[in-house]
Amino acid sequence: MLKGKKILLGVSGSIAAYKSAILVRLLVKAGAEVKVVMTPSATSFISPLTLSTLSRTQTVVELTSQHEWNNHVMLGRWADLMIIAPLSCNTLSKMAHGNCDNMLMAAYLSATCPVAVAPAMDADMWIHPSTQKNLTTLQSFGNSVIPVNHGELASGLIGEGRMAEPEEIVNWTIHFFQKKLSLQGKKILITAGPTFEKIDPVRFIGNNSSGKMGYAIAEECRMRGAEVTLVSGPVSLASPSGVKIVDVTSAKEMYEACLAEFSMSDIAIMSAAVADYTPTENAKQKIKKTGTDMSITLTETADILATLGNMKKENQILVGFALETENEKKNAIEKLKRKKADFIVLNSLQDSGAGFGSDTNKISIFDKDGNEFDFPLKSKKEVAADILNIISHAV
Ligand code: CTP
Repeated sequence: MLKGKKILLGVSGSIAAYKSAILVRLLVKAGAEVKVVMTPSATSFISPLTLSTLSRTQTVVELTSQHEWNNHVMLGRWADLMIIAPLSCNTLSKMAHGNCDNMLMAAYLSATCPVAVAPAMDADMWIHPSTQKNLTTLQSFGNSVIPVNHGELASGLIGEGRMAEPEEIVNWTIHFFQKKLSLQGKKILITAGPTFEKIDPVRFIGNNSSGKMGYAIAEECRMRGAEVTLVSGPVSLASPSGVKIVDVTSAKEMYEACLAEFSMSDIAIMSAAVADYTPTENAKQKIKKTGTDMSITLTETADILATLGNMKKENQILVGFALETENEKKNAIEKLKRKKADFIVLNSLQDSGAGFGSDTNKISIFDKDGNEFDFPLKSKKEVAADILNIISHAV
């Protein structure tokens, strides 16, 4: 199942390092070619000799030995995937900040392949804001995090932070390679975030969209090999690596950017919360207080999704979103038909944990053939994968 795949396993200093022997054995058994790089402190938990024997190649620990310089650049270029398991709190922090004081860090920083990490730490360290912040930083670099388990920890405490079992890491790896190239050669247009409609030079009409869902979709598309253009409204998110970003502010700019890209796209996913109305007049100077009520006349904006729905060719896939507060399913299906989309992703503001700003979302997907796919509350990254799994069948 992993035949021909080259995997660079990084082992850092955590008690879970003893499981890396089983992990190497399972990866080799699945057909992968494995090389191991360890941090010096990992060698206190498991011997390099064990891992060299199981991987059938010499495990690397030092940047230099008495007679040679170990080529960290070639390790990262050789691999199809680098997995760091276990990932200790210390190595996580170094990765987030770019420290390069050992061979594992040098290999990580020079790796040109995708990188996945399987964290392992005690429950209190796991939930510490700095740990979570560092993990988010890694994800913003495009690194994948293999989820930790809940269970008994080395300290004797029960909680989150247990490294995924070697079998789970191998399954994750098989799945990674299966889905990795499912969108290779496809051009995907994505909109994300809010739009800001100017009232005057200092004021605008906006909304609470964080852009997190669209950015997660862009990241997932890129991971699956697609060429991604992300038309983004004003958000405070790091740009996903390898994605072409077109920054826009208003609904009109988003409309124009989408129209310029759509004819070249195989798939368009419209997740932005586009303003439906824009001030008819944009005052050139700051509007002054007059002591009486005032009103702003609004003009309807062009509907990007509906415009693309009308332009769409047979071989293009169009995906819309629907954020509803009542009659969710009925409204979503009506939107799907009215805007001539192939799929509509419904998130309801009535579901706690779903919608603007949160890191999680709960969705249902409806397709034009009348099928419905319901999902439980998940992280936006997982939701992005669910959406792409459904769409990929239609490509
Ligand atoms: N959309 C769009 N252009 C607009 C408004 C919406 O492309 N001017 C897209 C959104 O990106 C989303 C879908 O249409 O994919 C549905 O957006 P939503 O705001 O839920 O629907 P509206 O058509 O605005 O309908 P309403 O506000 O009446 O629910």
